[in-house]
Amino acid sequence: MRPVNISGYGDDLTVNGVRIGDLSPSEHESIEVVKGGRNYSPLENVVVSHVKDSSTLIVRKPDSTDVEKYIESEIIDGLCCYSAVNQGQLNKTIVDAVVTHLTIEKLPTVPRSIRHKYMSAFLLATTAITGMDRVVPKVAGVEAPELMFKIARRWGYRIKEIPKGEAIVVAAKGNFHGRTMTAVSLSDDPDAKEDFGPFVPGIELVPFNDFNALETLFEEKGEQIASFMVEPIQGEAGVIVPDDDYFPRVAKLCKKHNVLLAMDEVQTGFGRTGANFAHQLFGVKPDLMGCGKAAGGGILPVSFVAGSDEVIGVLTPGSEGSTFGGYPLGAVVGTYAIKVLVDEKLAEKAQKMGNRLIGNMNSIKNEYPDKIKEVRGRGLLTAFEMHDEPHLDGHEVSVGLLDHGVYAKETHHSTVRLAPALTINESQIDILSEAIRSVVKSL
Ligand SMILES: Cc1ncc(COP(=O)(O)O)c(C=O)c1O
Repeated sequence: MRPVNISGYGDDLTVNGVRIGDLSPSEHESIEVVKGGRNYSPLENVVVSHVKDSSTLIVRKPDSTDVEKYIESEIIDGLCCYSAVNQGQLNKTIVDAVVTHLTIEKLPTVPRSIRHKYMSAFLLATTAITGMDRVVPKVAGVEAPELMFKIARRWGYRIKEIPKGEAIVVAAKGNFHGRTMTAVSLSDDPDAKEDFGPFVPGIELVPFNDFNALETLFEEKGEQIASFMVEPIQGEAGVIVPDDDYFPRVAKLCKKHNVLLAMDEVQTGFGRTGANFAHQLFGVKPDLMGCGKAAGGGILPVSFVAGSDEVIGVLTPGSEGSTFGGYPLGAVVGTYAIKVLVDEKLAEKAQKMGNRLIGNMNSIKNEYPDKIKEVRGRGLLTAFEMHDEPHLDGHEVSVGLLDHGVYAKETHHSTVRLAPALTINESQIDILSEAIRSVVKSL
């Protein structure tokens, strides 16, 4: 007897006699609760099945007449995989590139210890779009801040001549850089840290968007500080946009104290905020920048760190690497993710559609000032925050939006983030906005 018997595609995909297309939403939930790590609590009673168009998903919901079955309906994807799908679901240019390279070009899978021809395309494209000298490819988003952290420390010891073992990386309170030990060590979210210690040492936190706090810390410990690692707009914290003069002043302060400005653009990059990279909104250029999510065109996990010659130059063979970082398929997808960003003018679209969405949300806020406290965002990285009252519950809003055919998810209790694909059209923005209006009205 074979231990696992697998056959079929899509709904016919069958594992040990269980055909995926036969499972109801509650059966999917049971499998996940029993066999998964229980590290997520997904929206109840809904299972995504497939893509209808670049901003529309087909989902399965319980059939009220028979719990064993499901009905299908459409939802507008208001989150696009936390900004990993900026180019839209199944972007045709990217899918065609993947299919062509896998089937016609016979794309190999090889590690970095042997050169492959697609790496050159990836490096040419990533250095051109970022305006940086060098790029190191990685896989998951979190690997970008993780690597920036390592590079900053090594640069601190080798170039800045910080005494060995004393380097400090400064980060912002409320940050989100992912889930590795370094990323959770940087975090001040108790849920992310509880019982995972001891944590990585050499980290100091300052409030985000508080120049004076950073200046005070730099004045006190500047000689030991290798880097200030920061999101240009804090995404997971609830789309916190800093003052216009914050980053220009921070960049000057970093220069003064010889501290690297390392920006985590994993969520804000690739057109999301109305510029190719959010730091461009503030007229600064970081020494290091980490990208992920939409760097993989919504198809594959692709991430990278870009930076200046001097800073990335501290890496040496053997000091850093990744089996799948920049492997041929990752390199092709990463290159085409950039082609679509440029050819489809995604940053411009984000700005235009973002203005429309933010405008709509502001008019909802004006209608219900007792419910919505603030609308925030740049481009299509947007959120509305409700007043801190028990009945104004972000999770209830997410569930209500789903009933109105929109997928969005709360961050924290009272904030709901909206970050649809940058390919979304005006009428879809309006449908999304009307859903928000109806749900807010009902609270
Ligand atoms: C700013 C930022 N950095 C890093 C990450 C981690 O990316 P991933 O979940 O792909 O590892 C995220 C994910 O939300 C993020 O928003």
